[in-house]
Amino acid sequence: ARSNILVLPGDGIGPEAMAEVDKIIAWTNAEGLTAIETDVDLVGGAAYDDHGQAISDAAMEKALAADAVLFGAVGGPKWDDVPYDARPEAGLLRLRKDLALFANLRPAICYPALASASSLKPELVEGLDILIVRELTGGVYFGEPKEVVTLENGEQRAVDTQVYTTHEIDRIARVAFELARTRSNQVCSMEKRNVMRSGVLWNKVVTATHADFQDVELSHMLADAGGMQLVRAPKQFDVIVTDNLFGDMLSDVAAMLTGSLGMLPSASLGAEDATTGKRKAMYEPVHGSAPDIAGQGKANPIAMVASFAMMLRYSLGMADLATQVETAIANVLDAGIRTGDIAGSGITPVSTSQMGDALLAE
Ligand code: NAI
Ligand code: MG
Repeated sequence: ARSNILVLPGDGIGPEAMAEVDKIIAWTNAEGLTAIETDVDLVGGAAYDDHGQAISDAAMEKALAADAVLFGAVGGPKWDDVPYDARPEAGLLRLRKDLALFANLRPAICYPALASASSLKPELVEGLDILIVRELTGGVYFGEPKEVVTLENGEQRAVDTQVYTTHEIDRIARVAFELARTRSNQVCSMEKRNVMRSGVLWNKVVTATHADFQDVELSHMLADAGGMQLVRAPKQFDVIVTDNLFGDMLSDVAAMLTGSLGMLPSASLGAEDATTGKRKAMYEPVHGSAPDIAGQGKANPIAMVASFAMMLRYSLGMADLATQVETAIANVLDAGIRTGDIAGSGITPVSTSQMGDALLAE
C-alpha cells in the first residue's frame, strides 16, 4: 500500500541524520519493498528563519493528513533570543499537542557490540530489549491547578497537580498491551499506589483493561522499586507502562543502560481514528540538534534510522522490514563500524554518510 509521510528534518544534525534515512527510503522504494511518498517541510529554527514561526499552519495540516511524521531535531544557539512562542521547541510541542500524541514509546535496546558502553556490567544488558510506554499528555506536567501562590506570611507555595482519568489510563494501557502482543507478551505497570490516589486508580484501571488482553502477562510494581529493578536486572522487563512523570525518569534511566544518545529512537502515538483505525504518529530520535558537532559529518544517524524502523513497524504495518533495518544496525556495529560517539578507543570513526552507506549495504 502507498504511504504518505511528512519529513521534518529541522536544525543542526537533524538534516544530516535524515539524509541517511532518505537514502534508505529511496532504495526500499526502488526495490519495490515500500511505496513511501515523502513530503518535506521546515520545522524549528529553520522554519523561524523562513517565516517567523517554528512550524507553519500549512506544515501542520500536512502533519495531520500524513500516515506518519518523521522528525529530526530542532534548536541551537542561533535561536536563543527569538520570542518564546516562536522558539524552535514550540514547533515540536505544537506537533505533539495538535496530533494529540498521548503515548510515548522509548525502546531501550542494547546491541551486543555496544554492551561495554553501558553504565551497567555488559552481561546485565547484552541483548536487552525493553520498551517503555510513557503517558505523555496527562499527569502532573499538565494537571490544574498549576501555580505559585504567595501566602499571608509571605511564603510562596508552588502547586503541581497529578490528575488522571479512567479514560486516560485505559487508553495508554491498551497501547501497552497491544505492543506487548507484538513482542514478548509481558507488561509491567508502574505507579505509587501506596502513597498516591492516582496510583490506586492507575493500578485498578490497568487491571480492568487487562481483561481484554488475557493472553498478555501483567505485573505491577511500585515505580521506585521499578527504578531499582531496571538497574539491578533490566532484562526481566518487556513492556513497562507508566505515567508521564515516572515515565520521564524511568526512560532516561533505561536510556543509559544502552550507551549513546546517538542510538536512541522514539515514537509518539495518538488515538485510533474511528473510521480508518489508524493512529496519528511521530517518530524522532531522542537526541537534540547537537550544535557542537553539526555540519561536520560526525553525527550518528542510527537513532534516526531506528526511528524510521519504528515507523515501518507501528505506522506502515511493515514489521518484517523494520526488523531487517534493526538487524542491519546490529550487523554494522558487529563489523566494528562506528561514528565518533560510540567508537571508544582504537576504532577510527566513520562519517555520518559512511555509516548510512554501511547500513544500506547491510
Ligand atoms: P543534544 O542531544 O543535541 O546533544 C548532547 C550531546 O550528545 C552533544 O555533545 C552531542 O554532540 C551529542 N549527540 C547528540 N546526538 C548525537 C548523535 N546523533 N551523534 C553523535 N553525537 C550526538 O542535546 P543538547 O546539547 O542539550 O541540546 C542541543 C540543542 O538541541 C538545544 O537547542 C536543545 O534545545 C535541542 N534539543 C532538541 C531536542 C529535539 O529536537 N527533540 C531534544 C533535545 C535537545
Ligand atoms: Mg526526560
